[in-house]
Amino acid sequence: MKKPLILAALIGVAAVSFPLSNLMHQPSAESQAVLAQIKDPHLKKAAPILQNKCLDCHSSQTRMPFYANFPIARDLIGKDIEEGSEHFNMSGKFANDGAGFTELDLARLEGVLNTQSMPPLRYVALHWNAGLSQQDSEDLRSWIHNLRGQRRQTVGIHSNFAGDAVEPLPLVTVLDANKVALGRKLFHDKRLSGDNTLSCASCHDLKKGGTDRSKTATGIRGQIGPINVPTVFNAGNNIKQFWDGRAGTLEEQAGGPVNNPMEMGANWKLVIDRLNKDPEMVNTFHRLYPDGITSANIVSAIATFERSLVTTNSKLDQYLRGNKTALSASEARGYELFKANCASCHAGKNLGGLSFEKMGRKADYFAARDGKITEVDYGLYNFTKKEQDKFKFKVPTLRNIAQTAPYFHDGSAETLEEAVRVMGQYQVGKHFSEKDVNDITAFLKTLTGEYEGKPVE
Ligand code: HEC
Ligand code: HEC
Ligand code: HEC
Repeated sequence: MKKPLILAALIGVAAVSFPLSNLMHQPSAESQAVLAQIKDPHLKKAAPILQNKCLDCHSSQTRMPFYANFPIARDLIGKDIEEGSEHFNMSGKFANDGAGFTELDLARLEGVLNTQSMPPLRYVALHWNAGLSQQDSEDLRSWIHNLRGQRRQTVGIHSNFAGDAVEPLPLVTVLDANKVALGRKLFHDKRLSGDNTLSCASCHDLKKGGTDRSKTATGIRGQIGPINVPTVFNAGNNIKQFWDGRAGTLEEQAGGPVNNPMEMGANWKLVIDRLNKDPEMVNTFHRLYPDGITSANIVSAIATFERSLVTTNSKLDQYLRGNKTALSASEARGYELFKANCASCHAGKNLGGLSFEKMGRKADYFAARDGKITEVDYGLYNFTKKEQDKFKFKVPTLRNIAQTAPYFHDGSAETLEEAVRVMGQYQVGKHFSEKDVNDITAFLKTLTGEYEGKPVE
């Protein structure tokens, strides 16, 4: 059957079923007791909207409307109802005035308001009262903006921007300075590689935006790796490490390259034996860690150093802190385009690093690239082995992005303009005009921050 016909049929069904469907709504998915306790006036308005128009598909206790059992309706929306809560689940988040809604949740909610993509069209056709009115959207937005503002009272953000999906990096990061110093040495120490030729900095050069500026990495004995090197700057803000998130923490991550035969090709015993022959290292370790040189202490020092790699005071951060002239007209326009199109994924302090998303959400990126899928293209799937995680990657940070070409896990985009166009086409579903691409690119260049008082190179 053709789509328009199905829709016409559905609207017919909807006309008959609407009053019935309302009667048949069972007790709410989020308990009435929880909703009754809401005190925040913004959430008081937003919660009933989410409850009535969204939670059917976005809670753990999905309520199947009765018409979902009709054959055509089932085909069309049964899957939406089942998949909705897998993609985005709001259960349990309303308690304590919405404390459970994370930064990422708010960015994604704002994202669907921007694109007016929820509830799905098919569902609205069946359940015509289900669409969001102008007022509903405004109420949801003011709740989102207000909640962000409440949470950012201490970060020095100007009230005009306190509700944005993006926020400045902290100006000060407090860490144990001695561990940072030791970690810095280890990060630059070639004794961590099998043949003493590579340090972490060989691939994560702090003078090249924390990367090697190559399509993919070059490991020990010149071996060409399969994947692009992500930056170490601000990596401490990422929820997980690696493109596929297989390391939960920076500590866990740091052991990876040392033992990887393709990267540093060493092992802990070899590295620890070498460092134990260096009296200064032995002393420093014993001063900071009672049990001296161990693999756990090596990765602890390196991770502490990495947490110090925060690139503060970018032009965007100055702008968000209230310096109106920090961005040019083109950069400021680029920021508006970014908020409308990109921030649902590239949100928070890092403008990314909060979630895993499919590369090619709106069109088949890999078919257009070359049609040849390599193992690393499977992304998150390589770690979880779940079918739905194929082609998902950690959304990368966009901080210092002007310094880290080429782009994407496969290093396929050579320029920032190209990366912006690809994102438009495959993630947002838009062909941006030349002017839009230029303004977004100009905006992305304002994300270059300072490290140790100097602009990141
Ligand atoms: C009929 C079921 C259904 C209803 C009702 C519904 N959604 Fe969805 N929602 C889905 C499905 C399916 C997906 C995943 C596929 C997609 O993104 O289109 C989704 C995805 C989402 C996402 C994640 C988008 C992302 O960035 O990954 C958010 C946020 C969302 N919905 C919010 C809402 C809100 C807000 C409402 C109410 C105004 C709503 N949904 C109503 C089915 C539904
Ligand atoms: C041979 C080049 C190479 C060396 C040497 C190397 N790395 Fe990496 N690093 C990479 C590549 C490639 C990735 C991405 C791999 C992946 O995601 O599968 C990566 C990922 C990372 C990440 C994750 C960043 C993110 O956003 O996911 C961190 C942190 C990191 N490396 C730190 C280190 C440290 C610390 C060392 C030294 C112990 C080191 N690297 C040595 C190439 C290298
Ligand atoms: C649906 C989520 C999503 C949206 C929306 C999105 N991105 Fe991305 N972005 C990603 C993912 C995932 C990657 C990593 C893809 C890969 O490496 O294969 C990425 C990568 C990038 C990169 C390359 C980063 C690097 O270090 O290689 C840039 C630049 C970028 N995005 C900019 C944008 C811009 C600009 C927009 C809006 C026009 C945007 N993105 C919208 C998810 C998204």
